[in-house]
Amino acid sequence: MSTLEKLNKWKKERDAIILAHYYVDEAVQKAADYVGDSFYLSKIAAKEKASTILYCGVSFMGESAKILSPDKTVLLPDKTADCPMAHMADIGKIEKLRKEYEDLAVVCYINSTALLKTYADVCVTSSNACKIVSSLPNQHIYFIPDENLGRYVASKAPEKHMIFNDGYCHVHNEIQAQDVVRAKEAHPAAEVLVHPECTMDVVELADYVGSTSGIIEYATASRAEEFIIGTELGVLYELRQKNPKKCFYAAGGRQCCPDMKLITLEKMAYALEHMANPVELDEEIRQKAKKPLEKMLELG
Ligand code: 13P
Ligand code: SF4
Repeated sequence: MSTLEKLNKWKKERDAIILAHYYVDEAVQKAADYVGDSFYLSKIAAKEKASTILYCGVSFMGESAKILSPDKTVLLPDKTADCPMAHMADIGKIEKLRKEYEDLAVVCYINSTALLKTYADVCVTSSNACKIVSSLPNQHIYFIPDENLGRYVASKAPEKHMIFNDGYCHVHNEIQAQDVVRAKEAHPAAEVLVHPECTMDVVELADYVGSTSGIIEYATASRAEEFIIGTELGVLYELRQKNPKKCFYAAGGRQCCPDMKLITLEKMAYALEHMANPVELDEEIRQKAKKPLEKMLELG
């Protein structure tokens, strides 16, 4: 029996669905029931009926699914697959700012631990952050943990006083403006599509800025035939599936998330066979983290 056959056999026996982020390997995306960006996957996790979710992504994604669906078993193919940025905010600083600004809203990117979410008023993803921040009645916003996404949101919501935190995604931070300029010189007709986790000098060179799904949708709808892609290169699988005649070039840097790439078909089959690596959360943390996530689903 092939690994894929084994995986499908256990998927059926465990009444499971497989969710995968666009950054995981192509073979994993092919085996998944749902592939998408963080916002889409969190909505699926909240409403799907299957009793088990095998979440092919990093641990904060599995945690978010468990927070929203406590009665489901959420399994991680590799529990060491973790987003470093998810830990990059200091609780002491949140508490200090709450004392300083009476109307402070703590806006927490979904790329964060469950514990960090318990300190937030609302969660956001890269596809709904601008909309949600603009809709808040609060004047003062503390955006955690990603500084780059925070600065992008601030550029779209100049009426807000945004306070930034120094967290970052090492994959997007490595994409340099000079690499994008060079790629554009090599491919002058190409449109530049970047993720808002990139630094502002890269964002300023872009024709389109958006989440992984946004980038895929934009490229698919565009009349352009060539694109320079400023995000993790796992998106190339879906971009090429949807646009076999268009050309896609990497913007620069490694553009590879080593944590997302830890997910393999073998680990997926093993997790379902042995019901390995279930996400377990302290009930008090889960309840508190649920509020900002549900607020995101309501506003986003
Ligand atoms: P999106 O899919 O929401 O664009 O997320 C990007 C990301 O970094 C996930 O880890
Ligand atoms: Fe975290 Fe960046 Fe990897 Fe996404 S791509 S999981 S933000 S390190």
